Amino acid sequence: PAHAQLNAPELFANDLLGSRRPQNSHKGSFGDLVVLGGAQGMAGAAILAGRSALFLGAGRVFVAALAALPPYDSINPELMFRDAAGCELRARTLVAGPGLGDQPDAARLLTKALDQGNAMVIDADALNLIAGTPDLQQRLTQRVAPTVLTPHPLEAARLLGVTSAIVQADRLEAARELAARFDATIVLKGSGTVIATPGGDVVVNVTGNPGLATAGTGDVLAGICGALLAQGWGEQQAAWCAAWLHGAAADALVYEGVGPIGLSAGELPAAARTLFNAM
Ligand code: APR
Ligand code: MG
Repeated sequence: PAHAQLNAPELFANDLLGSRRPQNSHKGSFGDLVVLGGAQGMAGAAILAGRSALFLGAGRVFVAALAALPPYDSINPELMFRDAAGCELRARTLVAGPGLGDQPDAARLLTKALDQGNAMVIDADALNLIAGTPDLQQRLTQRVAPTVLTPHPLEAARLLGVTSAIVQADRLEAARELAARFDATIVLKGSGTVIATPGGDVVVNVTGNPGLATAGTGDVLAGICGALLAQGWGEQQAAWCAAWLHGAAADALVYEGVGPIGLSAGELPAAARTLFNAM
């Protein structure tokens, strides 16, 4: 077949799964992660991604925001808030884009992030900046470290220079084309999320439901994927597992009556954590 359905955790089962942690592990074993985003008025997007990374097991999570944040997050004081300009990026998994905005400070930060040799998730405004900037496209294609792009159909369309109708008319092909063009793993979101690798593997995720059609759920996906990369997963496995868990968390919440109507993005991380620990 042209693609497999991503419908069972067995598909991405490996030695690194869920609750299998060596007895003598410590927070340094599970990686540092930095979310780069949170411009004025969009801090919540970066915080949601950070919370998701924390709940899915990243060792230490920093939220590097462009806008001024309060000193700490009173809901998740484990998150470390930093000023984006001064935040250390080396040796840390990066999740760039949630609430990043399109101002020059965002482009400068993204340039620096793309040039790091660390695993990276690229989402939302970071994708839009890349779509409009040949220099950033070149830096993206030159990356060697694991790189996962998580576009929704309009973001994918901007990257390809076509309309979102064209992307939606052949989602498998759009994802394949993006993976080849940017030499990165692509998570093309929406009902039936498509995951394509530069090697030409394409799968369609079967979990998830319209409860996810609400603001911030994409930020949660980016954070989950980043957490898996931070814990040493490869880009394909991380992308597959993140998409599957994100959708399955929403399905579990709907089963409990939390949605589809009114399911909110901030409820997903704990539900995804429960599933991950059971894998
Ligand atoms: N069925 C299954 N999954 C769905 C459905 C559905 N009907 N609708 C949405 N989803 C999932 C998508 O697959 C994706 O994982 O919900 C998530 C939505 O992600 P985004 O489209 O990125 O939405 P959002 O979190 O609001 O984005 C935040 O970033 O991408 C920008 O323009 C966007 O400003 C917005 C911000
Ligand atoms: Mg989004």
